[in-house]
Amino acid sequence: MISPSIHSILTFASICIAPSFASPEVAVKRQSTCPSVWTDVASDLQSTFVSDSTCTDAARQAIRLAFHDCFPGSCDGSVILANECTDRGENAQMVDICGTLGEKATSFNVSTADIIQFAAAIGIASCSNGPVTSFYAGRTDSSTANPENQLPGPNANATFMLSLFSAKGFSTTDLVALAGAHTIGKQLDGSAMDSTVDKWDSGFYTEVSDGSAPDALGSDTSLSNSSETSGEWSSVGTSSSSFENAFVPAMEKLSLLGNDKDALTDCSDVISSYAAGTLSQKGVVEGSDVGSEAQGSGTTAAAAASSSESVSEATRRGGSFGELALVVFVASTVFLELVL
Ligand SMILES: *[C@@H]1O[C@H](CO)[C@@H](O)[C@H](O)[C@H]1NC(C)=O
Ligand SMILES: *[C@@H]1O[C@H](CO)[C@@H](O)[C@H](O)[C@H]1NC(C)=O
Ligand SMILES: *[C@@H]1O[C@H](CO)[C@@H](O)[C@H](O)[C@H]1NC(C)=O
Repeated sequence: MISPSIHSILTFASICIAPSFASPEVAVKRQSTCPSVWTDVASDLQSTFVSDSTCTDAARQAIRLAFHDCFPGSCDGSVILANECTDRGENAQMVDICGTLGEKATSFNVSTADIIQFAAAIGIASCSNGPVTSFYAGRTDSSTANPENQLPGPNANATFMLSLFSAKGFSTTDLVALAGAHTIGKQLDGSAMDSTVDKWDSGFYTEVSDGSAPDALGSDTSLSNSSETSGEWSSVGTSSSSFENAFVPAMEKLSLLGNDKDALTDCSDVISSYAAGTLSQKGVVEGSDVGSEAQGSGTTAAAAASSSESVSEATRRGGSFGELALVVFVASTVFLELVL
C-alpha cells in the first residue's frame, strides 16, 4: 500500500516534473483508467521475479534495464527495439531480459517502452522490503537508437556523475537515491554490494560510507565521500523511509524521461496491489508466500533469501569483458555502468 507520505511525495514530484514535459497546447489524449492487461502482466512476471521470497536476478536485470532504456535519451523501448541490447557492450548481461520483455510486449499487446518500466517497478516491489514506485502507461515505442556513451562507468567520480545527471534534470538527491538501487546489487561474480543484498534497505549507504560493504563500486564510494554528494548520501541513507522517500520520486522521474506524464495513464495501483500480495492471495502464483509476507509489512513484497541464478551468466560473461565487466552484471550496476 502507498502510505500517505508517499502519496504526498508523488504529488510533489508530479508538480515538479510536469511543467518541463507538459504541452498545454496539445489536447491530452489518454485512457482515463488503467488497462486491465497490466494486472495480467504483473502476475506473469511474478513467477520470474520472485523466488525464495525475494527478487531474482531476472528482476535485478529488469530494474537495470529501465535505466538503460531511459537514461541515454528517452524511455522509448529502443534498448530492445533498436537492438541496443545486443549491439552495446553495457547491455550484454541483459540480453535475456530484453528477449523476455520484448516477447511479452508482443503477446500482451502493450508497448515495449511501457513493459520495460513496468517490469522495473514490479522487480523493485518483488524484493524484500522493496518500495512501491509509480507506473504510468502509454509511452510510444521507437526503433531509433538513443545516443551512445550516456551511461556513467562503474568508477565514475561524483563530479562527473553530477554533471551527467543534472543535464538530464536530476538533482543530487535523485542521483544518490538512484544509486541506492545497489542495495540489491551484485557484482558479475555474484558478490554483493552490501551485506543484505536480498533486502531493499538503507544499510547499503552506511556500509559504503564506513567501508564495510562487501564489494562497493568505485562510483558509489565517490558519491559517499565527495564533498559534493556526501551530505545527500548521509541523509538519504539515514533510514529505509528516507531512502524510499528519495528513491520513489527519482525513479518516477527516470521512468518519464522523454515522455509527457499528462498524456500517460496512472497505473500505479497495479504496483501497490502487487506489493500488497493481492495477486498471490488470489492464487495466481502457486507456491509463493509473497502475499503473507506483504500483508505484514505494507510495501514489502517478500522476505530475505538468496538467489543464485546469476552465477552461470556471470561466469559466461566474465571472461570476455574482464574486470570492468565485473560491475556490469545485474542490479549492481542498475545505474552505474561500463561504457565500452
Ligand atoms: C493492440 O492494441 C492496439 C492499441 O494499442 C489496438 O489498436 C489493437 O487492436 C490491439 N491488437 C490486438 C490484437 O488486440
Ligand atoms: C572525474 O572524472 C572526470 C571524467 O572522467 C575527469 O575528467 C576528472 O578529472 C575526474 N575528477 C577527479 C577529481 O578525479
Ligand atoms: C574516497 O574513497 C576513496 C576510496 O577509498 C579514496 O581513494 C578517496 O581518497 C576518498 N576521497 C575522499 C575525499 O575522502
